[in-house]
Amino acid sequence: MAASDTFQLELEAAEFYEEKFVPALFAEWARLLVEEADVRPGQRVLDVACGTGIVARTAAERAGEEMVAGLDLNEAMLSVARRVRPGIRWLQGDAASLPFPDRGFDVVLCQMALMFFPDPVAALGEMRRVADDAGTVAVVVPGRLDDQPAYGPFVQLAVRCAGEQAAELLGTYWACGDAGRLGALTEAAGLRVRSLRPYLATAGYGSPEDFVRVEVEGTPLARQLSARQYALIRAGVRDVLAPYLRPDGSVGVPLQGHILVASPAVGGTG
Ligand SMILES: C[S@@+](CC[C@H](N)C(=O)[O-])C[C@H]1O[C@@H](n2cnc3c(N)ncnc32)[C@H](O)[C@@H]1O
Repeated sequence: MAASDTFQLELEAAEFYEEKFVPALFAEWARLLVEEADVRPGQRVLDVACGTGIVARTAAERAGEEMVAGLDLNEAMLSVARRVRPGIRWLQGDAASLPFPDRGFDVVLCQMALMFFPDPVAALGEMRRVADDAGTVAVVVPGRLDDQPAYGPFVQLAVRCAGEQAAELLGTYWACGDAGRLGALTEAAGLRVRSLRPYLATAGYGSPEDFVRVEVEGTPLARQLSARQYALIRAGVRDVLAPYLRPDGSVGVPLQGHILVASPAVGGTG
């Protein structure tokens, strides 16, 4: 499986991800996810596919740092997570076989990663297994590409400039974006859907060129593009993002996603 299919980054890109991508985009989703999951003081919280740890850090503000664990496949992401917040427990592991006993957490969270797992139902099943019967599993994924006002034209631009290799990673993002399918995957994993709602977040970037830099250099795409392909994408992005340009030259790029909250079906009280 290609590194882009599972969003694998090297250390420099992981640092860039934390510095640029997290404040621009992921921090807002993390706040929403922790709010929707209703994380409370003293609850045991797991952040699956934690990346550099924004969800775990946001949950720790409510639950307490010592109550939170973050797990990711990628050591580079985890080393940034450890540097930023050493007090949280960070573990390397696969969402498909979580290294935790049954029912060990009150809240299991997973942000912007389900679509990278080869078997999303198996991973959701693992989240259910490690969640308490009266607990919560909550997930954020991007919506369908057809529902993305800005990313739709951006993906078309990237494919025009860089061919199908760009489509591979940029296509994976939206793979769990159909709300009906997401609900069905969740139920197939033995979870009961409590709420599933769409949300439109706006990510702020200094300029359209900044947006491209973050989208390329903060993702596995950077290793796949030639200098020429990257330059072509940079040259075309101003037109693509014209509707989202602000008077000060910055750009507010909308991303539509789903926030799903579920209970373990057996014994779950919701
Ligand atoms: C787009 S990042 C999201 C990271 C983080 N949740 C956030 O909101 O910033 C996707 C993450 O999924 C992780 N990942 C992909 N496949 C995984 C797997 N099978 N098990 C655990 N983590 C995985 C990647 O290493 C990467 O850190």
